[in-house]
Amino acid sequence: MKISVVGTGYVGLVSGVCLADVGHEVVCIDNNAAKVEQINAGKSPIYEKGLDELLQKHIGTTLLASTDLSKAVVESDLTLIAVGTPFDGDLIDLQYVKQVSREIGTALKNKDGYHVVVVKSTVVPGTTDEVVLPLLEEHSGKKAGAGFGVGMNPEFLREGEAIGDFQNPDRIVLGGIDDATRAKLAEVYAPFPETDKVMVNNKTAEMIKYASNSLLATLISFSNEIGNLCSSIGGIDALDVMNGVHLDKRFSPILETGERIKPVMTTYLEAGCGFGGSCFPKDVKALIAHGVNVGEPMSLLKSVIDINKHQPMQVMDRLRKHFPELEGKKVAVLGLAFKPGTDDMRESPAIPIVNELVAAKAVVTAFDPVAQEEAQKIFTEGRVVYCDSIEQTVSGVDAILLLTRWPEFKALPEILKGQGASPLLVDGRRLLPKDCVETYEGIGI
Ligand code: UDX
Repeated sequence: MKISVVGTGYVGLVSGVCLADVGHEVVCIDNNAAKVEQINAGKSPIYEKGLDELLQKHIGTTLLASTDLSKAVVESDLTLIAVGTPFDGDLIDLQYVKQVSREIGTALKNKDGYHVVVVKSTVVPGTTDEVVLPLLEEHSGKKAGAGFGVGMNPEFLREGEAIGDFQNPDRIVLGGIDDATRAKLAEVYAPFPETDKVMVNNKTAEMIKYASNSLLATLISFSNEIGNLCSSIGGIDALDVMNGVHLDKRFSPILETGERIKPVMTTYLEAGCGFGGSCFPKDVKALIAHGVNVGEPMSLLKSVIDINKHQPMQVMDRLRKHFPELEGKKVAVLGLAFKPGTDDMRESPAIPIVNELVAAKAVVTAFDPVAQEEAQKIFTEGRVVYCDSIEQTVSGVDAILLLTRWPEFKALPEILKGQGASPLLVDGRRLLPKDCVETYEGIGI
């Protein structure tokens, strides 16, 4: 199938590359010529495990990047819209979705035959039918359902695992205005015959994405609230508590073979310093704003955000328990990205923590295996000393804050032993065993 993908950001590029990999002919469109050139040269503008390799495998054959939206639309059977929908604090910003809808509509004027336009960007329920569809009709002069179809196909890609998530999806949600649209969209995913397909209308597809991220975010804030409570009561470890909770057969069913299915939720029931990233905070806030607009109180999700906002300070509280006065204290920060496997700093819990350390005049050293360049855009050199290794970061410090679950940080106890040092460790991710250092503080303990 010939597919055009508009937007070569995270979702667009990963989707485009993976669709080429399963046998489609794909053109990725972006109005940024430098990005297009870079992609055509086989170099991804974003860091994602495995992306460069797949890109290099297909670029120039079944995969191409271009700035020419009109040509790509006319020459393809289906167009995916994968442009950004930033959240401006009140509502999601639809300017890019609207702009490309107009351009696709105009391109469809010159196209014979049926074309399907599919929204992949995360948009609040109603957007595809009430914003995208009318713009396509207006600019193409054609009627949806007759001249073209309109669908919605949300993505469920985790950063750092995006290629694997695309290649091995949990489910594929296919929204459409009619059966013809959904059937065409289903052809895109024909290479995934084993995967459950959820055929719904566009609004439902949009809602599935929000409900899914909101549930995961709720689990995290729930675990963090329980963890904070465990700490306040004392003598309880939230990891043991959550382990006891998971073993409920409703979370981790036991198969006839006697084997227990590892609970899918496990990783979202870990207390820590809070969720970040480009999706959870933005999607939950956007759903709250949309819900309030339609008259719903959205009280549970408001609490989810509220708990998450305060969670990074749990790390600071544990640090201050040992060092009430931070001025001049040497504090090492291990991990800056919002999670391992990415250089993404968006909404990372490290941001409020480092800001607080700097405000308290602590001497801050920091290390992240990949996010350092991104971090330097936020905390300039001078406020934070960036180091090249764990060893260098923790050398001679009073305290270490572990903020991202990078597996390489598991080497920390050995490194400290080698340095003959025993600074305070505040494990914001519960990555290390609590007896691994002399003075250990962790969330949920
Ligand atoms: C998420 C969804 O998982 C994905 O399906 C969706 O399409 C986009 O949003 P992502 O933002 O890449 O993906 O992050 P994810 O791996 O889900 O982690 C989100 C955040 O939650 C991270 O900051 C992580 O550290 C935090 N987290 C996760 C916890 O604090 N505790 C946990 O138990 C699990």
